[in-house]
Amino acid sequence: MKPVALFTALSLSLAIAGNAMAQQAAGDPARGRTVYARCAACHDLNTGATRLGPSLKGVVGRTSGTMPNFNYSQAIKDKAVVWNAETLDGFLSGPSKYIPGNRMAFPPLANPQDRADLIAFLTQSAR
Ligand code: HEC
Repeated sequence: MKPVALFTALSLSLAIAGNAMAQQAAGDPARGRTVYARCAACHDLNTGATRLGPSLKGVVGRTSGTMPNFNYSQAIKDKAVVWNAETLDGFLSGPSKYIPGNRMAFPPLANPQDRADLIAFLTQSAR
């Protein structure tokens, strides 16, 4: 391969890889809906109703531990983190590590794509 052709091939594959990464970060809300099935037993999405956990209505942009009518742990109230794509990703990748002492009995959501898809779904639908 001539240097110019090699360079073109390289930048093309870099562009494709970069595009794939951007898509992964954005997440697929349709896929996220199926991931949310794991949360639905404990979390209402839109009505504000309390289940085993607080409603996730309007969760993106809300401060942790502030849904009315839910008896939160002191740990999640003291954390006072604003839920956004980054903080939700941190929490869901290891709930008890991110907020030690919180009462959400749920294992880490280990797959980054699952988390990105779920967060895209919550951003769109948890209103
Ligand atoms: C077994 C029940 C249960 C499951 C399943 C569960 N959660 Fe929770 N979740 C809770 C409880 C209980 C709390 C409140 C924890 C506390 O007060 O320390 C909570 C808190 C939260 C919070 C913080 C809410 C706030 O108002 O600050 C978020 C965000 C959250 N969960 C998202 C999820 C997502 C997304 C899933 C699915 C991947 C999930 N949870 C699965 C029970 C659950």
